[in-house]
Amino acid sequence: PILKEELFQELLDNDNTKSSNKITIVGIGAVGMAAAFSILTQNVSSDVALVDIFEDKLKGELMDLQHGSNFLKNAKISASSDLAVSAGSRLIVVTAGVRQKEGESRLNLVQRNVDVMKTIIPKLVEYSPETTLLIVSNPCDILTYVAWKLSGLPKNRVIGSGTNLDSSRFRFLLAQRLKIAPTSMHGWIIGEHGDSSVPVWSGVNVAGVCLRDFNPNIGKEDDSENWNQCHDEVVNAAYEVIKLKGYTSWAIGLSISDIASAFLCNTNSVKAVSTLVKGIHGIDKEVFLSLPCVVNSNGISSIVIQKLSADELKKLQASANLIDEIQKGIKF
Ligand code: 2OP
Repeated sequence: PILKEELFQELLDNDNTKSSNKITIVGIGAVGMAAAFSILTQNVSSDVALVDIFEDKLKGELMDLQHGSNFLKNAKISASSDLAVSAGSRLIVVTAGVRQKEGESRLNLVQRNVDVMKTIIPKLVEYSPETTLLIVSNPCDILTYVAWKLSGLPKNRVIGSGTNLDSSRFRFLLAQRLKIAPTSMHGWIIGEHGDSSVPVWSGVNVAGVCLRDFNPNIGKEDDSENWNQCHDEVVNAAYEVIKLKGYTSWAIGLSISDIASAFLCNTNSVKAVSTLVKGIHGIDKEVFLSLPCVVNSNGISSIVIQKLSADELKKLQASANLIDEIQKGIKF
């Protein structure tokens, strides 16, 4: 390369620069690509690797993103069907596996996606022994537990994307009713990312003012204003979107980027993510469920213990028992 040699006076023989914020995304379906796009456009990472088994799709997505590099902040983007491309990742986002068809529940996918985890998790950890895993594939809570077992990583470094998304849907729907910004609407959905999720009505507030103080029946069946419709819509959200467009992608992509940012930027932000909950809120099963967690560069550094009502505790424990029952039936 004569031109290159004349243009530059090299100071170093070999380029051994390594990025400290590498994110690998495994699975480049609609969810993986929405995550990649959010992470790149929000400058969460400057080093993104994509992994999938479909080489043409992989190459097409890589080229398409690279062609936008001029509008990004000098991110390095790579892609391969070989998991070696993930080596040295700070964070690995797993979206691989099958997704729900119309009318199908998340839990229905379990054994097929456990089998996917078995083929990828041990290798990913071999290439990046210091990594943190963010599991997104469904059923999210069970697969996070499976990834934790398969990886041998400490529990703080295996995170499920969990109800960070459900909480966002919830805040959006509540905020619409009150005509305020979703970011000013505080409310948490905990438990399963899916049908048995638990809305924490006791804590829903605007500016620290609890809605329950005005409507003691909020979220209950005999609430004349039927606020619980907001939670019903959260539970139905994915079913509805899948019916309309075939899959969900943008909201989960943004949710992934939000969690990745808290981790890489070491922000100590509190997020509803799936973590090992045994011993908390009277749960005696070895299951992962979402609770508000402090997320920083250690992954999950602590769990916020909410003051739950008796009814919320009962629902959360029921969610744990359901997950545990299904876990007993899976083979890995
Ligand atoms: C979602 O809730 C399908 O779990 C995915 O959008």
